[in-house]
Amino acid sequence: MKRLSIVAANWKMNGSLALVNSMVSELNNVTLNENVEVVVCPSSPYLAAFNAASASTNLSAAFSLGAQNFSEHNSGAFTGEVSASMLQEVGVSYIIVGHSERRSIYNESSALVAKKVKAALASGLKPILCIGESEEERAAEKTEVVLAEQLQPVIDEVGIENFKNVVIAYEPVWAIGTGKTASPEMAQETHQFIREFIAKFDENVADKLPLLYGGSVNAKNCEELFAQADIDGGLIGGASLKAEEFKIICSAAKGK
Ligand code: 13P
Repeated sequence: MKRLSIVAANWKMNGSLALVNSMVSELNNVTLNENVEVVVCPSSPYLAAFNAASASTNLSAAFSLGAQNFSEHNSGAFTGEVSASMLQEVGVSYIIVGHSERRSIYNESSALVAKKVKAALASGLKPILCIGESEEERAAEKTEVVLAEQLQPVIDEVGIENFKNVVIAYEPVWAIGTGKTASPEMAQETHQFIREFIAKFDENVADKLPLLYGGSVNAKNCEELFAQADIDGGLIGGASLKAEEFKIICSAAKGK
């Protein structure tokens, strides 16, 4: 097996301490295939609580903690911001960067996303770099151009060799929270484009890069999506808040 599969839970601004505790105990008895890692990304106030709850269980080494947002700066007068090094200190290993909600609601540009990826890597965190096209962009057959425009600034900022510590999540904006999933064939075609795009810079890095699909993944569609040659797991929103459903999704992932 050459590639890790990852199932990452993006709780967004949802959840509670009660969900942290119940999710940790539910995940404690999930069965995972070989070469699969599960990452849970709760809101920042719950990160330490998640770590504390998992320390008192047998949650295996296959589980990691992730964060949803952070500053591109390492410290200083940035009221309200949190740095990658602070997150690393409280046990975070992965960090979501460039989610379409941050790009559209908080106007995060691809240049800022690139700086954040650099800051994450400098603190030893693995960025889950989100890219994806809007419905209009897909209809105008601009998907590949949009994805290339989102990837190139990051490659320029950190260098392709550092992508060995990056995870890419392809999340078509029109599939997020809408119940409209990309068909497995459409998702595969786009994942293949992304892997080939990276391979133009470094084939070895592309070969090992975990490429996740996100957008209305659920217990019913996960198996078929994860079976595609270039889909190495998923970034899960709504379905990651329901322990039973999330466990089914985790168990469906297989290392490739
Ligand atoms: P949903 O799974 O709710 O569509 O959300 C996907 C997502 O945005 C994960 O980051």
